[in-house]
Amino acid sequence: MANVCVITGGGSGMGLEAAKFMPKEKIIVLSGRTMSKLEKAVEELKALGFIAYAKTCDTSKRESVQELVAFAASLGEVKNVINSAGISPAMSTDLEKILRINALGTVYINQEFSKVMNPGSVIVDVSSNSAYVLPSIIINKKEYLLAETDEEKFLQKLVKKSKLAKGDYQRSGFAYSLSKNFVVWYAKKCAFEYGLKGIRVVSLSPGLIATDMGNLEAKEGGMLIPFAAEERMGKPEELGYALATVADERNGYLAGVDILCDGGSTNGMKEFKKKKK
Ligand SMILES: NC(=O)c1ccc[n+]([C@@H]2O[C@H](COP(=O)([O-])OP(=O)(O)OC[C@H]3O[C@@H](n4cnc5c(N)ncnc54)[C@H](OP(=O)(O)O)[C@@H]3O)[C@@H](O)[C@H]2O)c1
Repeated sequence: MANVCVITGGGSGMGLEAAKFMPKEKIIVLSGRTMSKLEKAVEELKALGFIAYAKTCDTSKRESVQELVAFAASLGEVKNVINSAGISPAMSTDLEKILRINALGTVYINQEFSKVMNPGSVIVDVSSNSAYVLPSIIINKKEYLLAETDEEKFLQKLVKKSKLAKGDYQRSGFAYSLSKNFVVWYAKKCAFEYGLKGIRVVSLSPGLIATDMGNLEAKEGGMLIPFAAEERMGKPEELGYALATVADERNGYLAGVDILCDGGSTNGMKEFKKKKK
């Protein structure tokens, strides 16, 4: 049976770059909301010698995720899921939408794919280094548990917190940070739930990366650049390689952790480059 690698948000950015580092014998399924973008990305992969398919999926809708799972499973055994779908603060002022896509989308992806995955498979959830910027007093793990039991209450609580920030961009940024902090926590939770079934779950938190999304955010978040060890943005292909290696079966003991792949900017900001502007 063929091995299948599913990449949500795979029509662009680091998701698409990750596909390029996958072994060519795997069947690649790229998914996202925009078919034209996916078709273009699939053509790019085919030209490089990959077997690839496009399948639309809105990860913020469970039924849509279930359709993606059924499609991927019809092609072979789903071995790798890289969940790179997401929206950033500059893309929306709709706080609930940010939380639905980034946070609840991760719940649907992990829950639905884990039902068809077997020992030796892996889910990599893409978070963000903004998961690390929230004051610890803001983070309430009891509220995070609601994502699985009472979605509306979960959204209500996190939207309310995000509204504490002043200004539209800051509010979206707050909702984004909360959604990504949730992703780090949820990936860990799933690692321990699915671990006994032999499914590995890891999250990876990029810093500012020069994808379309990253370039958009750079206008607001560019102040991160001086805090990185090399004082630059990450390249999409660097993150693609990091994601592909974390998803590689040979990394079998990597589970239940977050990989902070941000050029050092979080630690630079917290300690080593504090004085820089
Ligand atoms: N670039 C950065 O600086 C940076 C930093 C930290 C974390 N991240 C995270 O890294 C991930 C990848 O981002 P990227 O930089 O590669 O940006 P990107 O090129 O914009 O990729 C995000 C992809 O997600 C898809 N997407 C958005 N909403 C979706 C939904 N509801 N359902 C399914 N797909 C959806 C988009 O396609 P459609 O719009 O066609 O659906 C897009 O292809 C995101 O989770 C992002 O939050 C990025």
